[in-house]
Amino acid sequence: MTAASATAKSGVRKVEGAPLLQLEDVQMHFRIKGEGMLARRNVMVQAVDGVSLTLSPGETLGLVGESGCGKSTTARLITRLLEPTAGTIKYQGVDIAHMSERQLRPYRREIQLIFQDPYSSLNPRHTVGTIVGTALRTHDMVPKGGELKRVQELLELVGLNPEHYNRYPHEFSGGQRQRIGIARALAARPKIIVADEPVSALDVSIQAQVMNLLENLRKELGIAFVFIAHDLGVVRHFCDRVAVMYLGRVVEEAPRNALYEKPQHPYTQALLSAVPDIGVVRGVPPKNRIRLVGDVPSPVDPPSGCRFRTRCWKAQDICATQDPQLLEKAPDQTVACHFAEPPVESIVAEAV
Ligand SMILES: Nc1ncnc2c1ncn2[C@@H]1O[C@H](COP(=O)(O)OP(=O)(O)O)[C@@H](O)[C@H]1O
Ligand code: SF4
Ligand SMILES: [Mg+2]
Repeated sequence: MTAASATAKSGVRKVEGAPLLQLEDVQMHFRIKGEGMLARRNVMVQAVDGVSLTLSPGETLGLVGESGCGKSTTARLITRLLEPTAGTIKYQGVDIAHMSERQLRPYRREIQLIFQDPYSSLNPRHTVGTIVGTALRTHDMVPKGGELKRVQELLELVGLNPEHYNRYPHEFSGGQRQRIGIARALAARPKIIVADEPVSALDVSIQAQVMNLLENLRKELGIAFVFIAHDLGVVRHFCDRVAVMYLGRVVEEAPRNALYEKPQHPYTQALLSAVPDIGVVRGVPPKNRIRLVGDVPSPVDPPSGCRFRTRCWKAQDICATQDPQLLEKAPDQTVACHFAEPPVESIVAEAV
């Protein structure tokens, strides 16, 4: 522990003045059995490969990218359900990347995860009261005898009937189950909530209600959020800053307005083109929108140089040989592209 660090009441050490959360060059390579020609060997899945992110108290950071880009792995690293293969994960200045389960105990309470799938993330044999109550007990959040009252307060806070504490998950709708997951996360009074695509498994009509709930909680309780989505439309009104991930890396990060108005990375531009009302606002006719073709390549054997080059309409020879670094291209806007520039009508049109 440094001289500047202190042990807070909760048992969490912190370094004064440090960001709430800081990931530096974090890597998660999974070792798996190879297939085909590589059947006898182990191969590495580069799920997350050198991600750096910063989160301030109360701030909301959006993490966006297609399926397979490493978003959930990043969520599981931040919440330390996974131990990274390299890099540092600092919470209030203290590196928790390689802490043991015992050392992690006080931090577990402060960083909570909301899962994508409200169906599989709740134990079907437990009542809502038990689910939320277990979170309270695990983190020692209520004195003996005060549990039911607090469970009911939490249910009310997330818009559920507090009298329904003895019902089972299957008695609730998808949106209500996600609210139970949110109540369980709030039980710990966290400083950070990592929400991994919390509305993508819900009906479109329900999505806005759950988003509104999260937005209100954020404002009322001052919790910082890492909000994960595969679609830039979903995080548009929710985030202060947005980081775009592609194949295990952050390719662009910017304050919300800069990212939506002047995206510089071709991948960000393509993701934005896929959001119907954003294209309309810009006056870009649907036929001129950039369409991403193909899938994200395998993280077992990512393309050389720029990982996006196999799907990029701007790719040149240099893109295959030189890995573009994440550089500041505008104030507070970092982009990893040799040809980064804000969109102009012609770029959008060229991709047709
Ligand atoms: N435990 C694991 N073992 C092997 N590969 C994994 C594991 N978890 C994730 N992956 C792989 O890592 C890549 C990124 O996955 P994920 O983080 O779930 O992406 P996203 O959430 O953006 O869809 C995918 O190719 C996925 O198959
Ligand atoms: S570095 Fe090259 S391939 Fe990569 S995004 Fe930029 S232009 Fe496209
Ligand atoms: Mg995911």
